[in-house]
Amino acid sequence: MIRDAAIEFAKQHGPRFIEELKDLIRIPSISTLPEHREDVRRAAEFVADGLRRIGMEHVRLIETEGHPLVYADWLYAEPAADGKARPTVLCYAHYDVQPPDPLDEWVSPPFEPTERDGNLYARGAVDDKGQLWLQHKALEALFAAGKGKLPVNVRVIVEGEEEVGGEGIATFVREHSEELRADVALVSDTEMFAPDLPTLCVGLRGMIYTEIEARGAMTDLHSGMYGGAAPNPFVALAQIIAALKNTEGKILIPGFYDKVQAPDAAELKAWSSLPFDEEHYRKSEVGSTELTGETGYSVMERTWARPTLDVHGMPGGFTGAGGKTVIPAKALAKISMRLVPEMTPEESFAQYKAYVLSLCPRGIRIEVRLIHAADSIVVRTGNVFIRAATEALKDVFHKETVFIRSGGSIPIVGDFEHHLKIPTVMMGFGLPDDNLHAPNEKFNLSNFHRGVESVIGFLCRVGRE
Ligand code: BES
Ligand code: MN
Ligand code: MN
Repeated sequence: MIRDAAIEFAKQHGPRFIEELKDLIRIPSISTLPEHREDVRRAAEFVADGLRRIGMEHVRLIETEGHPLVYADWLYAEPAADGKARPTVLCYAHYDVQPPDPLDEWVSPPFEPTERDGNLYARGAVDDKGQLWLQHKALEALFAAGKGKLPVNVRVIVEGEEEVGGEGIATFVREHSEELRADVALVSDTEMFAPDLPTLCVGLRGMIYTEIEARGAMTDLHSGMYGGAAPNPFVALAQIIAALKNTEGKILIPGFYDKVQAPDAAELKAWSSLPFDEEHYRKSEVGSTELTGETGYSVMERTWARPTLDVHGMPGGFTGAGGKTVIPAKALAKISMRLVPEMTPEESFAQYKAYVLSLCPRGIRIEVRLIHAADSIVVRTGNVFIRAATEALKDVFHKETVFIRSGGSIPIVGDFEHHLKIPTVMMGFGLPDDNLHAPNEKFNLSNFHRGVESVIGFLCRVGRE
């Protein structure tokens, strides 16, 4: 059987897969920082070379206004014995990563992948280079087992701007949907609910990432000479931010919750039977004295099915060591909101902007900008592809799959559903404590290998091999 032969190949070549992954991780492809532009491109070339080497065809970089996409395909799967054509799977992952700061919190340097206790530590280890690589290594194993042939038709699309909103791939998908024609998308960029618990992610929150710029005086001022008479843009931002949310975690933007759809009873019931220890979550994942958020909702509801608003940073003014008595002329606040079905980024941003402008204190001028946006999505589950995924996971993990949502966002998934009009399977192998976007990001190596095997099994089952 092709599946067994491919898994055997993956087992034999597993150590090499990890060494190759380390080379990919060593490229600091931080999409948000302009000084890493060339590194991002080098990572794209690395991924493209990898796809060429394993036997994918039409491998190319697709230029966008930002970072390049990588495309590849292999579309020669022979019809099944009953004459039916094999489906086409569109494999998606991203090769860009988040910035590694704060650097002094890392036990080993972020771009020097290091193995410790069965984990690989590095920026991008799990989000998303490790998961990208496990997908491509599953293809390699299938090519080897099938003597140059795959059990299904495959297209691969990889982006380098996921962490900055995914504009490039969104434009490409909208304008070239024909070139990505497929029956299902396989997205490798999510997490398992718990170790050893096979998981499919069936929902993502959307988001709007915004910036408020506040200006007061025409230049920075001596706070002794002018304090008492000159407006302070930081104080203005603090007043605005304080009015965005109340102490019960409720967002106060008028109309913000109008379209929020609650999960149905069956989904809520399934969540309540997931193995979840709130106290352990508070202590070892969050590490705070208390959990916060809207009263009356479980942690799962609060993080998966309710909108939120967070402040990420407030650049400007004096932030060095010691003191400087200055009234800054301008201040910024980076604020994002996570959205849930049926909220739209357009309407939510309009509501937010109008409310923020209405809160602007005297003497301050503010500008409200949208940096990037993503749709929320709940994918369909009653289809053969979801079934193929759960069966493939069962073959590897020997357990029933749990269906979860995630509070994170993957902007392109909405476009796969709405523009390509195909179902998405989000099969991921991260763990809750993998430190995504944080210092000491890691990927559990056994999850890497089980991920390779699960993707092999999924592709075989979709191809009915
Ligand atoms: N892989 C994550 C999203 C994710 C995290 C899905 C955990 C499921 C579980 C993705 O790389 C990510 O971080 N997305 C950003 C998107 C944003 C910058 C538009 C996010 O959610 O902040
Ligand atoms: Mn990711
Ligand atoms: Mn990410």
